[in-house]
Amino acid sequence: MEIVVSGIRPTGNLHLGNYFGAVKNFLRMQEENNCYFFIADYHSLTTHPTPADLHGNVKKVLVEYLALGLDPEKSTLYIQSDVPEVIELYLLLNMNAYVGELERVTSFKEKVRQQPDNINAGLLTYPTLMAADVIIHKAAKVPVGKDQEQNLEMMRTFARRFNRMYNVEYFPIPTAYNFGEALVKIPGLNGSGKMGKSEGEGNAIFFADEPREIQKKVMRAVTDSGPTEPNQAKSEAIQNLFSLMNIVSASDTIIFFENAYNNCEIRYGDLKKQLAEDMVKFTAPFHEKIKELSSNNLYLQKVATMGAEKARESAAKTIKEIREIIGFKKF
Ligand code: TRP
Repeated sequence: MEIVVSGIRPTGNLHLGNYFGAVKNFLRMQEENNCYFFIADYHSLTTHPTPADLHGNVKKVLVEYLALGLDPEKSTLYIQSDVPEVIELYLLLNMNAYVGELERVTSFKEKVRQQPDNINAGLLTYPTLMAADVIIHKAAKVPVGKDQEQNLEMMRTFARRFNRMYNVEYFPIPTAYNFGEALVKIPGLNGSGKMGKSEGEGNAIFFADEPREIQKKVMRAVTDSGPTEPNQAKSEAIQNLFSLMNIVSASDTIIFFENAYNNCEIRYGDLKKQLAEDMVKFTAPFHEKIKELSSNNLYLQKVATMGAEKARESAAKTIKEIREIIGFKKF
């Protein structure tokens, strides 16, 4: 039973790619560990300082993760801004975080390019806040994607540095959570690349999509002009449609269309119709759950309150101990 922490940025709706690439692993993780999942609303201000509807964004993420199966009884599910202890640790870590090392972080340099008019100190210290998020619970493991590896390295640096500077063995040095098998990459509908909300309109299938929207997107998916000889290798666009079918359709359906393709008898319109139908069927229970939870504010309040209480209990203990370690004392 290890302590695992993961932050989720409140940026938009979840799609099939998120589910198979990350959420499914979270579901497995929460069965075997003491997981803390939180919504990183403070972090979101580093790029969106004046969001039109911050609470709405947070609610959407909370609802969708719950709908997909994060269990507030098994994990601690909370909102970052509900746990002020994190901010104190953030401040303390910042005292021993050097501008030079923070400036060298790739994602900071990227943000400097992307938002030259808003190079704020929050962006620069994004890694210290992230480290605080994790080590506040004395976590051993963090599930991270490729893009977060450097941030994990920074967390390890700050945890090690704290231990060294105050001459203690207090913080465990967190490591990457290993999912065993390779993460599943879900292709999008644009004909190339993976499913993602920034990959263009219609590329991703969201759990919040109405069946009509799903049908429309799938019917518009990129294809090619069709096989001209038996057993021809598939183009990327067609391979992607088959990959999607692999995750939502029954095996006899897949075999049927594989055979049709190999015999040059395939009609892409039929394949898309079937794929759309199976996607609607696959997403329907989640879709219903999202609708149900969205209108149940009382339940969401209960979840967030319970999560904040559990997270604060763990965080307060850490703060109390590191205050002692550093030398703060009450008169
Ligand atoms: N930076 C992470 C992301 O963009 C979100 C995050 C914030 C996080 N704090 C964290 C992830 C702590 C893991 C652990 O996805």
